[in-house]
Amino acid sequence: IPVDPFELVVFGGTGDLSYRKLLPALFQRDRAGQIVGPSRILAVSRRDLSEDAFRNATRDAIERFVAPADRDPGGVEAFLKRVCYTAVDGNGDAGWTDLKDKLSKDSDFVRAFYLAVNPELFGPICAGAGRHGLITDESRVVIEKPIGKDFATAQTVNEAVGAVFDEHQIYRIDHYLGKETVQNLMALRFANALFEPLWNAAHIDHVQITVAESIGVEGRGGYYDTAGALRDMVQNHILQLLCLVAMEAPMSMDADAVRDEKLKVLKALVPIDSHNIDRMTVRGQYAAGASAGGAVNAYADEIKGESSTTETFVALKAEIANWRWAGVPFYLRTGKRLAERVSEIVIAFRPIPHSIFGGGAGSIVANHLVIRLQPDEGVKLWLMIKDPGPGGMRLKHVPLDMSFAQTFAARNPDAYERLLMDVIRGNPTLFMRRDEVDAAWGWIDPILSTWRAGGDMPKSYTSGTWGPSASVALIERDGRTWHEEA
Ligand code: BG6
Repeated sequence: IPVDPFELVVFGGTGDLSYRKLLPALFQRDRAGQIVGPSRILAVSRRDLSEDAFRNATRDAIERFVAPADRDPGGVEAFLKRVCYTAVDGNGDAGWTDLKDKLSKDSDFVRAFYLAVNPELFGPICAGAGRHGLITDESRVVIEKPIGKDFATAQTVNEAVGAVFDEHQIYRIDHYLGKETVQNLMALRFANALFEPLWNAAHIDHVQITVAESIGVEGRGGYYDTAGALRDMVQNHILQLLCLVAMEAPMSMDADAVRDEKLKVLKALVPIDSHNIDRMTVRGQYAAGASAGGAVNAYADEIKGESSTTETFVALKAEIANWRWAGVPFYLRTGKRLAERVSEIVIAFRPIPHSIFGGGAGSIVANHLVIRLQPDEGVKLWLMIKDPGPGGMRLKHVPLDMSFAQTFAARNPDAYERLLMDVIRGNPTLFMRRDEVDAAWGWIDPILSTWRAGGDMPKSYTSGTWGPSASVALIERDGRTWHEEA
């Protein structure tokens, strides 16, 4: 369904996110016929760049980041007609009048500002847009993480943006929420009668959420070294996944209904501080090792050989203090330079109470629901089944297996495609509300400050492994193991 005519102003329009994600995503939506009429994308940065040079750079980006099967020269050229470029100083006054002149005077146009820039510029850019009269009733602003580096700095960012835009006009992107498989979590839970009666402490033993990456910091060391895995991945993506797994059924898909339920989960997280930090967290940092492409450097070497206390891996045991989840641990882990790229959620059900097959209940593997977010997107429900044959009642642990690639012929759209169109449609369901960001920082801050006060170095792990052995110990202490597929 086509969206209303819009103008999307991308600050940081010549940056990595813009070329790698935003422009390819908009190209796909244009090609699919969702972007119609006079809609345009106005890229903005401080650099002096001609319209032609920007269009050429956009063409190159599409060739680099869009698979050949998903692009055609005619479609690319048609899309390029929608893009243009203007130099604007987000921190000052230069260029704003040119930008204003390029924007349509038609107040029915949706006008969206996408801030793909350093968060320090969020405030100044919003103020600039206000000062130069660029904000209409149909305006909205999209901001990328990191929103602050702790609760206090997040307040500063949110106040600065909130001074110009109302909360309903602010779209805080967490691109994980735009992933098809993440949206499917809600379908799985709330469009099937099968799971909900079992979705609680009486039937679920524990939950695992793994977001493993095989890449390192990839030239983003400057930012990453001030962030670390807890801020970069847990505060946002992983806590959002946890919320979708743990929340009560919202009344509807209405944005505030969903976000109210997620907020309750965040508020019910049991604090981790000096009393329990050693039991509940493990920090790691990658040392040299091997990845699929060959030998790789240690993190310290990638950030110019300086020693750093920044963690590139974190494992946590989170607990949710409410009726549904009391006593059910949520084991979370994420890291760079791990053995493989895999993101998945494992719902581990409780074992059967008694086995009629001999060998005790423990000889039967408990059911697992494995939701594979990426790659090889799919859902597997692991069950005990009789191994066919006359040799007696031998049981086997096998999956009911739904693969997205095999079930659906369509291309799996990138998260940004959905999220950018939602901004234009004015649907904030898949975006974080301010109080969610605050509550997430409220749980993360004591972990950060306790680590800081301890002053320890993260534990070293060899690149290409599953992180420090202490993360295995974290779950094995409880008599459980990280899910591994045979
Ligand atoms: C980003 C993080 O938010 O998510 C990166 O800043 C990380 O460090 C990326 O690599 C992972 O996203 P995806 O979609 O590749 O899983």
